[in-house]
Amino acid sequence: MRPCALVTGASTGIGYELALLLARDGHRLVLVSRDRERLESAAARLRAEVPGVAIETHPVDLADPDGLEEVCARAAHLAPDVLVNNAGFGGYGPFARTSPAEEAAMIATNVTALTMLAKAVLPGMLERSTGRILNVGSTASFAPGPFAAVYAATKAYVLSFSEALAEETRGSGVTVTALCPGPTHTRFAARASMGGTRVFRGPVAQAGEVARIGYDALQAGRSVVVVGRVNRLMLFAIRFTPRRIVALISRRELSEVAPA
Ligand SMILES: NC(=O)c1ccc[n+]([C@@H]2O[C@H](COP(=O)([O-])OP(=O)(O)OC[C@H]3O[C@@H](n4cnc5c(N)ncnc54)[C@H](OP(=O)(O)O)[C@@H]3O)[C@@H](O)[C@H]2O)c1
Repeated sequence: MRPCALVTGASTGIGYELALLLARDGHRLVLVSRDRERLESAAARLRAEVPGVAIETHPVDLADPDGLEEVCARAAHLAPDVLVNNAGFGGYGPFARTSPAEEAAMIATNVTALTMLAKAVLPGMLERSTGRILNVGSTASFAPGPFAAVYAATKAYVLSFSEALAEETRGSGVTVTALCPGPTHTRFAARASMGGTRVFRGPVAQAGEVARIGYDALQAGRSVVVVGRVNRLMLFAIRFTPRRIVALISRRELSEVAPA
């Protein structure tokens, strides 16, 4: 039987590219994302790219508690060899004026769904003494994000949670990896209304490149991987910088700039 990988947010962007790498590596895929049409079209592209790949699709809004419960039950039953917790989205604006419903859905997707899916598969992985979990964080995991306050806080959670699980599972045969990309060409910036910010006007990575780095780190069982040399340097410098200054720099990066 081929190994099984469950990937959330697999319809597009980084999640799609990770699903493609897993398929090429011989995995059966269980794909989850919100929009049915986008998910089915991604599955069709994957079947064309990797003939013979077995794909099961679940068009589910992970922010919906019933949808999440359904996916968690399926995940526990399937006992995947690999879980990729990639589904997530951001938002932009002063916290006093952003939509509470949108932010509640962001926390439910980026934090609750990621946590509950890990809970659904980890006991089985530990019993079998094998398994890999990849949680997608961000460079935003390392600093507060003025004007993207809730998003950055959800990604700080992803990093802290992943590092804790990596330590809890050390030596068990199960590994937990946090993939922390910087700005990447996907639908993310448009959905988050962040396309006009300074951070997306600088160098922006390709989704395929980010997925490859994440996949290699997953295979190697690394606990954290930050994408990009400049991002790694910046995050190293943050360790020696007072948090107040880090917030200030972050505010500048997240400010909107006039179109080029
Ligand atoms: N792109 C960047 O600059 C960047 C940087 C750092 C970290 N990240 C992180 O990378 C991950 C992947 O994002 P991406 O850049 O590839 O963005 P993307 O192209 O917008 O893809 C996001 C994926 O997540 C799915 N998704 C979002 N909300 C969902 C929900 N409530 N329920 C189920 N599926 C949901 C989307 O499905 P639908 O299309 O069906 O909604 C889509 O498949 C996210 O966790 C994001 O925070 C992105």
